[in-house]
Amino acid sequence: MATSSAPGQNGSAYPITDHTFDVVVIGAGGAGLRATVGCSQAGLRTACISKVFPTRSHTVAAQGGISAALGNMGRDDWRWHMYDTVKGSDWLGDQDAIEYLCRNAPEAVYELEHWGVPFSRTEEGKIYQRPFGGMTTEFGKGTAQRTCAAADRTGHAILHTLYGQALRNKTEFFIEYFAIDLIMDSEGRCVGVICIKMDDGSIHRFRSALTILATGGYGRAYFSATSAHTCTGDGNAMVLRAGLPLQDMEFVQFHPTGIYGSGCLITEGARGEGGYVTNGNGERFMERYAPSAKDLASRDVVSRAMTIEIREGRGVGRNKDHIYLHLDHLDPKILHERLPGISESARIFAGVDVTKEPIPVIPTVHYNMGGIPTNYHGEVLTKKDGNADSVVPGLMALGEAACVSIHGANRLGSNSLIDLVVFGRAAGLRARELVTPGQKQPELPANSAEMSLSRLDKYRWAKGSTPTATLRAKMQATMQSNCAVFRTGEILEEGSQAIHDVWKAMPDIKISDRSLIWNSDLIETMEFDNLLIQAVVTMDSALNRQESRGAHAREDFPNRDDKEWMKHTLAWADEAKGKIDIDYRPVHTYTMTDEIEYIEPKARVY
Ligand code: FUM
Repeated sequence: MATSSAPGQNGSAYPITDHTFDVVVIGAGGAGLRATVGCSQAGLRTACISKVFPTRSHTVAAQGGISAALGNMGRDDWRWHMYDTVKGSDWLGDQDAIEYLCRNAPEAVYELEHWGVPFSRTEEGKIYQRPFGGMTTEFGKGTAQRTCAAADRTGHAILHTLYGQALRNKTEFFIEYFAIDLIMDSEGRCVGVICIKMDDGSIHRFRSALTILATGGYGRAYFSATSAHTCTGDGNAMVLRAGLPLQDMEFVQFHPTGIYGSGCLITEGARGEGGYVTNGNGERFMERYAPSAKDLASRDVVSRAMTIEIREGRGVGRNKDHIYLHLDHLDPKILHERLPGISESARIFAGVDVTKEPIPVIPTVHYNMGGIPTNYHGEVLTKKDGNADSVVPGLMALGEAACVSIHGANRLGSNSLIDLVVFGRAAGLRARELVTPGQKQPELPANSAEMSLSRLDKYRWAKGSTPTATLRAKMQATMQSNCAVFRTGEILEEGSQAIHDVWKAMPDIKISDRSLIWNSDLIETMEFDNLLIQAVVTMDSALNRQESRGAHAREDFPNRDDKEWMKHTLAWADEAKGKIDIDYRPVHTYTMTDEIEYIEPKARVY
């Protein structure tokens, strides 16, 4: 550890504390911690930086479970899991990566079990698995029970276990450090990151052979989301500022069952255990939209069905603007054993006793399929000299921050937790190949701190007249109304104009609390700045894609168009010019091995 200083505005200088590690992981959710454990086990000196205490990372809120074809509740096969994931992705997922995920899922779950995750158990003592949307047997013929659960607190159980493993493996944690920006050298290599230590406001520069972004999604770009307020996609925004693209940002998942009003998640596991939704006529309407899977169709299908019911006047409540989720027919013992968390959430956030009354629910922003493009080793990709699979040296991305792409246009429930651990593990394995413990670090560019600190200063000393909260509210309202479950060219055009207007208003931002500590206006403004750039990219990517696929439902282009649009969006943000540049890259239409053939596109019905 060494110290130096860099000049700031107003005659100030920022003292800088320098650190050197083999690997720096940013984010301590499931993906970050799993990668951290792997890198530490490889003998690499590993730092894990997190803006919240690790066990408060958003993985803690994952409820229903983690998918893997263990076959504990009936026959199962990773190939069926792969088929479901490809179909769920509406053929936008890269099939080599999906094969990697599904093939390695069982081993990743057994590893968690051995590390101590307290999974629920069957009578014979095996890991309990429940049905989840879109998960089938025999390539779509039967219903799979593939989602391994620790009651309805699976993310909580996994996160705590992984944190224990990281401590056991001597990872060095930097807790409540907020990452400002990546340090990129002139050759496009990532050589570290600049952070603020939020308990005392000091600046820290981390130099590393490998930097791994596991910073989660950006659900808080919307007004109503199941995501924590900390889900501001900081890594995605840092990547954009480093001149790299984000991929498939138009694909935003609405979870069918957020509690009406609060947005709090009610797990899909509730429908897995036999729950169902009804409209204002008391009708189980999912039978009309997904005759076979019904309430366990994939999330995009259920969310669209609920939205149509509401739009056509068949919602529930005084304003007919939501839907009911029924669990009141289930055995209270099952509710107590398998769904205790959501029973409590329904009581606290909706005033409902689930054994007696339905829960008022509404489709709520839940997950970002898009993010930082990577291969299945976790290495970040960019398009360079026409090659869309060029690796960015020194940089990896994982979890919701990444777009591998396994979820394509729509993620299946419980494929997120398995994504975290399978690719977190893959990153550790790749790091072992790429980095030698204690290897000489690349030189830092001469101005490595100045660029990040000038961004910090820009907001710290901002003298505008519009409070951050005002601009944030405008962004969230625009995303909520103009980039929702259903979209049209007209609504997206209007949304693009409105979100660009918010972007243009940034120079007029007003900061009231300029301190560099937790919850200050300044930190919230930097998080908002991160959200906003992703909101602009999301809106413009959605406007450009003239088809319907997965979570991107265009009423003016209602069909999937594989000929024109079976390709990934790549979007770069030019902050200086206030403009988004969009290009595309082909979907990988090949598998990783010859043990399974490429799954040809077909109509997606449930
Ligand atoms: O519904 C849920 O429990 C959420 C799971 C997921 O998003 O994977």
